[in-house]
Amino acid sequence: MARHLITSAIPYINGIKHLGNLVGSQLPADLYARYLRARGHEVMFICATDEHGTPAELAAAKAGKPVADYCAEMHAIQAEIARGFHLSFDHFGRSSSPQNRVLTQAFAKRLAEAGLIREVTEKQMYSVVDGRFLPDRYIEGTCPNCGFDSARGDQCDNCTKQLDPVDLINPRSVISGSTELELRDTKHLFLRQSELRGKLADWIDSKADWPILTTSIAKKWLNDGDGLQDRGITRDLQWGVPAQFDGAPWQGMDGKVFYVWFDAPIEYIAATQEWADATGGDWERWWRTDKGAEDVTYTQFMGKDNVPFHTLSFPATILGSAEPWKLVDYIKSFNYLNYDGGQFSTSRGRGVFMDQALGLLPADYWRWWLLSHAPESADSEFTWENFQQSANKDLADVLGNLVSRVTKFCRSKFGEAIPEGGHFGERETALIADLESRLRSYEAHMEAMDVRKAAIELRGIWVAGNEYLQAAAPWTVVKTDPEAAAAMIRLALNLIRVYAVISAPFIPAASASMMAGMKTDDWSWPASMAEALAVLPVGHVFEVPEVLFRKITDEERVEWQARFAGIRT
Ligand code: 2FM
Ligand code: ZN
Repeated sequence: MARHLITSAIPYINGIKHLGNLVGSQLPADLYARYLRARGHEVMFICATDEHGTPAELAAAKAGKPVADYCAEMHAIQAEIARGFHLSFDHFGRSSSPQNRVLTQAFAKRLAEAGLIREVTEKQMYSVVDGRFLPDRYIEGTCPNCGFDSARGDQCDNCTKQLDPVDLINPRSVISGSTELELRDTKHLFLRQSELRGKLADWIDSKADWPILTTSIAKKWLNDGDGLQDRGITRDLQWGVPAQFDGAPWQGMDGKVFYVWFDAPIEYIAATQEWADATGGDWERWWRTDKGAEDVTYTQFMGKDNVPFHTLSFPATILGSAEPWKLVDYIKSFNYLNYDGGQFSTSRGRGVFMDQALGLLPADYWRWWLLSHAPESADSEFTWENFQQSANKDLADVLGNLVSRVTKFCRSKFGEAIPEGGHFGERETALIADLESRLRSYEAHMEAMDVRKAAIELRGIWVAGNEYLQAAAPWTVVKTDPEAAAAMIRLALNLIRVYAVISAPFIPAASASMMAGMKTDDWSWPASMAEALAVLPVGHVFEVPEVLFRKITDEERVEWQARFAGIRT
């Protein structure tokens, strides 16, 4: 038994996430956490909402609410949706927590003591009408690169070029629309990341087993001059972790906060402290290598756009502190999921958002499709045809049908208890051997976090059971040899329990229904198929479960496709 710390990238607080966001971090992290727990490991699975920065402030202003209230409401909504998707976080924290404030300030202080912070006075856009500086998204104007007239201060949405607010042509305030802007001096803290280049390069080089997607992005940024420039870690904003605090090794930072990307990853640690404060647990044994965390394996899950921050910026914070913090061991990153011939778009409401998805179908349908089509080696695409086909075939025809056919047949011929029957024949022995080797390969894919390969193997295990029943045909055999038919059904009923156990990381609710139907709570992972397929003894009572997965109709598919095509208001 090992100890595993797992974190999912923490979603921004402003708005409900779409299915592309879900499959890029929270969902595969949950799959892995559930699998490791099922194998008997000790798991700490952490996520949170990313609450600071300009997006939160602007969204709150748009909603006409104080930003703290807005964040509290949105956190509750995101937490509820996460429960709806059965995301099994040990804690779903908030980056605006007092724990994160204290820890973020402590990290900044440590970095200053290590000589890694410098104070820089620079010119930034100040809005006279609004009486404030306009960082990042508080300013819009024409992109100097492509001419797009609504480029934001930090990035042009049209050509994706990273911008500085001072680059914009005809800039205006997003708050008031005012163009009465001037450059004023303002002081900020810069993290001297460039000092850490050697250490970061050695660390990344030591990670030979990381996915190519992760290392290629990390190395690109490490070697490309821009990636490791000293980075401003404060902003002229109200909402965030205050940069001026008791014991701060600098003065004159009143009214400024730390940059959201500085405090967000620190929230992984702070959220574990939030968990500890709420439960009386010990967070240090997960995070401090001087307090037991040297035995922990730490895995992070994220979309590819987050990789630079997790391979360079956050490790720079950790390494720069020179304190015994646990560094990540493995970074599993994902490409993008596209939607029906284009991109998901939060601003245009294109695609399916998490709350909407749960309104259409239970979480397991989405979990299964998303995980079995996870954008691992390349971007992947959601289409309604594919979704319908995969749900109807894999879930309804293969898995659901096996469960209902076997349980109903047993009820009608032998009653609602495991029948005795004779010994297993050649066909059964062959099935058990086949399942044994498939299960070992499924485990290997799950351990390697090869999500799609694991899904394919799991489906293969379901199909093997179906094909066995098709060939064995107990419904025919029963007429001439009821003993033999009873043995087949004894095996098949046990197979339902095995399916429930091994499928639970993908489809936890369906697995729970299967276990309830089999009237067992023996969730033990099959050490050997032969043993696992005899766990439910002769005479063990069960009941026919409700239909596990109903089919998606063509009418529904057509209607949903039209409904989610875009412009949600
Ligand atoms: O891209 C995002 O959704 C960010 N909020 C992820 C932050 S992950 C981390 F650093 F905490
Ligand atoms: Zn542009």
